[in-house]
Amino acid sequence: MTEHDRWILSFYRHSEISGAQFFARLAKTLPAGPIQHDLTKHFADESQHAWYWTKALDEMGLEPLKMTFAYQDQYLEAAGMPTNIMEILSLTQVFERRIISQYARHGRVKDVHPAIKATINTIMEDEKWHIHWVGEALKGLEESFGAERVRKTYEHYRQADEAVYERFVTEHEERIGHILDKQNYAF
Ligand SMILES: [Fe+2]
Ligand SMILES: [Fe+2]
Repeated sequence: MTEHDRWILSFYRHSEISGAQFFARLAKTLPAGPIQHDLTKHFADESQHAWYWTKALDEMGLEPLKMTFAYQDQYLEAAGMPTNIMEILSLTQVFERRIISQYARHGRVKDVHPAIKATINTIMEDEKWHIHWVGEALKGLEESFGAERVRKTYEHYRQADEAVYERFVTEHEERIGHILDKQNYAF
């Protein structure tokens, strides 16, 4: 189990770093305003999450594995590169929802290591805010893009997410099966 924990925590760490890098680039280029403001905090949070997972691995006596792929890259491959802020935020919203459900699921695994549980609990608070501010920003963008276009864009990324997640689960079933197996839930 420890090897599986090491892999999945390294994967989380790597994903958080990729997220931080993605938002960091945006935070540098976006014009001043509420989206730049919240996105800068979002970027800072994702950096912290990478640090929390690094710390959790250390507490468990594990070293982070070097990961060669990022879930985010597979998303972009499946859904195409977003070309405007509305598409970026729609993709972000889908991705954040996936992450929050993955962390919630992992937090419910029976006998989950206390360091994992504590890290998930801390991160969850930030992730809830990520979903909130991105949702509000998207609502605001409906004015310039049209509600229907925003809805369709979100749906496009949601479908891409389902395909990517399904592939991810199949490819790494051995490593993450214990998280996904309902038998292992505490309730
Ligand atoms: Fe995060
Ligand atoms: Fe997040």
